[in-house]
Amino acid sequence: MPATTLDQLVSLCKRRGFVFPSSEIYGGLQGVFDWGPLGVELKNNIISSWWRTNVYERDDMEGLDAAILMNRLTWRYSGHEETFNDPLVDCRDCKSRWRADHIKGRCPNCGSTNLTEPRPFNMMFKTAVGPVADADSFAYLRPETAQGIFVNFGNVLATSNRKLPFGIAQVGKAFRNEINPRNFLFRVREFEQMEIEYFVMPGTEDEWHQRWLEDRLAWWESIGIPRARIKIYDVPPDELAHYSKRTFDLMYDYPTLGYEEVEGIASRTDYDLGSHSRDQETLNLTARANPNRDSTARLTYYDPESRRHIVPFVIEPSAGVGRCFLAVLAEAYDEQMVKAPPSERVRAVADALEAFLKSVGRNEKLASETRDALVERGQAILRGLPETMPQIETLLAMPGADQIDIGKKLRGQAQGPIDEYFRTVLHLKPHLAPIRVAVFPLKRNHEGLVAMARELRTAIQSGSFFRTVYDDTGAIGKLYRRQDEIGTPYCVTVDFQSLEDGTVTVRDRDTMQQVRIPASEVRAYVTGRG
Ligand code: GAP
Repeated sequence: MPATTLDQLVSLCKRRGFVFPSSEIYGGLQGVFDWGPLGVELKNNIISSWWRTNVYERDDMEGLDAAILMNRLTWRYSGHEETFNDPLVDCRDCKSRWRADHIKGRCPNCGSTNLTEPRPFNMMFKTAVGPVADADSFAYLRPETAQGIFVNFGNVLATSNRKLPFGIAQVGKAFRNEINPRNFLFRVREFEQMEIEYFVMPGTEDEWHQRWLEDRLAWWESIGIPRARIKIYDVPPDELAHYSKRTFDLMYDYPTLGYEEVEGIASRTDYDLGSHSRDQETLNLTARANPNRDSTARLTYYDPESRRHIVPFVIEPSAGVGRCFLAVLAEAYDEQMVKAPPSERVRAVADALEAFLKSVGRNEKLASETRDALVERGQAILRGLPETMPQIETLLAMPGADQIDIGKKLRGQAQGPIDEYFRTVLHLKPHLAPIRVAVFPLKRNHEGLVAMARELRTAIQSGSFFRTVYDDTGAIGKLYRRQDEIGTPYCVTVDFQSLEDGTVTVRDRDTMQQVRIPASEVRAYVTGRG
């Protein structure tokens, strides 16, 4: 079963080092996160899968990596200076600041309805290029990667000799000064986008829009997000971005959040190429482009059939890496009871949990929302015992839990049965798993076993595009559990029989079944399976 709360994912990411709050030792920076050792592997694998599918496996795509800093005029003519705004309101009572369209007229902090009128707030981060901060050095951090593609359209066309239709793919950082960053990686201020601008003949854009919708859904399926877990939201005209004629938002059913956008597929017409071109009056543009006196180029395509220069239309599939990462984790997450714990141990955990919740309820130092969140979560766990026992780890990682002394006792009661009777497992597709193979010696103080396991790790790793690790820091059962929790599909154990006949066991993460095969075949075995 996929994750049921965002807290389960936050807790796993913290526990196992997938994601850290940025500059945590100085109190962090709101809406900014760092990728830890396992997070960077999973993120990179998601990006490579996207790149492979959209660039290598098609014959109509080129790649690009444009700079984050661009001439300010880019953002004037793209329309972002004027329109990239969110409606901002202030609470007159508690002085907090909110996005008007997220709060339904009531301050989420103090409940007051005494709010200011909404006013536009431009979300682009500003900076200065060079030593003097004046009007000439003014620049923005890009709020989308797309514009780097549009302004390079002529360069790519001239150097690749592409014919329409063709696309340009890019993965890179984008920055938005979100008014209320929240929900972990879901709404942040610094994030990565995977974007495609696909250029088509005018008049064929509706057909290509549908084709891209299908192609993108197939990719989501290939990374473990079933079609049934995504809703397609046909964005109504009054919600469309300034450049869009029609947009399909792919909405994933996130734990706690419900259906939220993970990718937008927009039909951007000839708006962007038109807006960045000079001599617009000669181009027969259909979009209301921004009149441009600064551009030095006509971003057009010469159509040999009609012998005319035309401005291509654009279909743009654009997905956020962080939102994709969260969806992949949520979908892969599973807490399994491997065998039922004895009733007296369940009773002991239930008693410790009840005592913990009573202590939370009495604690005056905690803010009331923090207290309510802990009690609500804890009671849900209590009702679902024994199956919900692993969620106690999530509960104890929630804000405020570390201030309850009796939490240590609860952890002490629960940890034993959780380790013995449960496992948390990430059923990640093998090509996404941060680690594909873990190799263990049956005994860490046996020279022969250790040497063979180390050699085997090197042999599997060498020349592979996935990661293989050696581990001897615990008993085999514990090592299996640790690898299950981070989604490692294959655990290889070198035992005494290995020293005699050169075979090893390979354990499958999902079925927990083991096969014995020659060590020399392990690399082919794990490579051939995704
Ligand atoms: N170039 C089009 C564009 O930027 P968008 O819908 O604003 O369109 C595309 O953003 C995707 O980028 C979204 O579907 C989402 O996955 C991701 N995204 C946007 N803002 C984000 C934020 N503040 N935090 C995390 N991801 C974000």
